[in-house]
Amino acid sequence: MIIQRNKCLKAYNTFGISATAKYFCEINSLDDLAEALRLEEYPRKFIISGGSNMLLTCDVDALVLHINLKGITVISEDDNSVIVKVMAGENWHEMVLWTLDHDYGGLENMSLIPGNTGTAPIQNIGAYGVELKDSFVSCEAMHITSQEIKTFSKDACQFGYRDSYFKNAGKGQYVITSVNFKLTKKNHVLNTSYGAIEAALKEQQIDDPTIKDISNAVIAIRRSKLPDPAELGNSGSFFKNPILSKVKFNKFQKSHADAPFYKISEDAYKVPAGWLIEQCGYKGKRFGDAGIHKNQALVLVNHDRATGTEILDLALRIMASVEEKFGIKITPEVNIIK
Ligand code: EPU
Repeated sequence: MIIQRNKCLKAYNTFGISATAKYFCEINSLDDLAEALRLEEYPRKFIISGGSNMLLTCDVDALVLHINLKGITVISEDDNSVIVKVMAGENWHEMVLWTLDHDYGGLENMSLIPGNTGTAPIQNIGAYGVELKDSFVSCEAMHITSQEIKTFSKDACQFGYRDSYFKNAGKGQYVITSVNFKLTKKNHVLNTSYGAIEAALKEQQIDDPTIKDISNAVIAIRRSKLPDPAELGNSGSFFKNPILSKVKFNKFQKSHADAPFYKISEDAYKVPAGWLIEQCGYKGKRFGDAGIHKNQALVLVNHDRATGTEILDLALRIMASVEEKFGIKITPEVNIIK
């Protein structure tokens, strides 16, 4: 295994932040991973996969392991469904396109989400009415200190909104190495209820959509709203949508009757952080090279040479403004590396 020194991580994080890894190695197999984790001369290890959900605010004084485990395999199937095992380093969107090429249904609403498959369970990625957990069966992960491989069932992952065991009790303990999905082979369950998908299908006069049509609609919506990290550094939604209790929501709605919201349960209402941030006047603004996207205020962007600290300062400023104006705390969805 080749260990590189002082490696620039700009190409390894979708924010395009030029932080430096003190040591760096590529992980191309489970053996590589176990070997690298065992290296005692590098006591601190830091895992990067797609780098799509992190903000690097400093250099990384550790051995960075870049997860490059590849492979997509059908491990079992019956007439109706198939179980697909995807290695952690497979790019998420390319993997979704692979499922669509085989007419396997379940992941189409999550087309074009940046990042790799192995990190998707950590925050239970989701979009347009569907979350990873809806097709998730299990994942395998290597324990960082013992190098043992453990299988996590869906229950063990404790999925919530942009949340899982791996963000809580299991944080920093495991490297996810593969994910198993259960996908449909026929009678696909189409999820077109999200307003923007319905509108896109209507515009194209598609009455009886296939899973590929839904994927194409999602791709078109995302391209119109969300910046492509290859062109403008970003990490998707920087903040989570805050969830308010009924009492707090009623109070909020009295003074902001026009605010969009989603009712999650009798006592939980989600308010779009993008709307709150836009109301504070930030949408499309730029402070040096750190900015807020012009089409979606939930997305912070690196116009070229912003440092992680500049993006973080902007995030803190936005959080303070939202709290001052609405009395609502918003929190980052992105992992902030300090
Ligand atoms: N809105 C505004 N201004 C904005 C952004 C949004 O007023 O600048 C309003 C919209 O008009 C709409 C509502 O807020 O009424 C919701 O907006 P949108 O449909 O764009 O969804 P979101 O709640 O802002 C969430 C996810 C996205 C996901 C979309 C679609 C989170 C943190 N974000 O965004 O996920 O693509 O729904 O399902 O839950 C990501 O996690 O990186 C991501 C992009």
